[in-house]
Amino acid sequence: MRNLAVALLIAAAGIGTAVAGQQAAPPPGPGLDLIKGRCGFCHSTAQVTGVRKTPAAWAATVQSMIDRGAELEPEEQKVLTDYLAANLAGPDGSAPASPAPAQH
Ligand code: HEC
Repeated sequence: MRNLAVALLIAAAGIGTAVAGQQAAPPPGPGLDLIKGRCGFCHSTAQVTGVRKTPAAWAATVQSMIDRGAELEPEEQKVLTDYLAANLAGPDGSAPASPAPAQH
C-alpha cells in the first residue's frame, strides 16, 4: 500500500504542475490586487484565477462571495467584476478547478 500512496502523490503533483502550466498568469492590476486582498481571505488566489466563467457568471460569483463575507465596496465590486470578465472569461465549466460538466 505504501507504493500506492507514493504513486498517488506523484500523480497529484503531476496534475498540479499541468494545471499551473496551462493557466497563463492573469495580468496585474487593481483587479488582481482585489483578488489577493479580499478573496484570499477564505481561499487561495489560484482558486479564483484557475476558474473560467462567463461575465454574467462572474458577476453572480462575486455577489455570492460578498454575501458570504467578502469585503468589497460597490466601486471595488465593479472593478473586480470587470477584471474577471475581461481576463478570466470562458464558457462555464471550462474551469480546470470544476471539471464536472453539470450546471447548477
Ligand atoms: C468569507 C469567505 C469567502 C470570501 C471572502 C470569498 N469566498 Fe469564494 N468561496 C468561499 C467558499 C466557502 C467557497 C466554496 C463553496 C462554493 O463553492 O460554493 C468559495 C468558492 C469560490 C469559487 C469556486 C466556486 C465557484 O463559484 O466557481 C470561486 C471562483 C470563488 N469562491 C471566488 C471568490 C472571489 C472572486 C472572491 C473575492 C471577491 C471570493 N471568492 C471571496 C468563501 C469565500
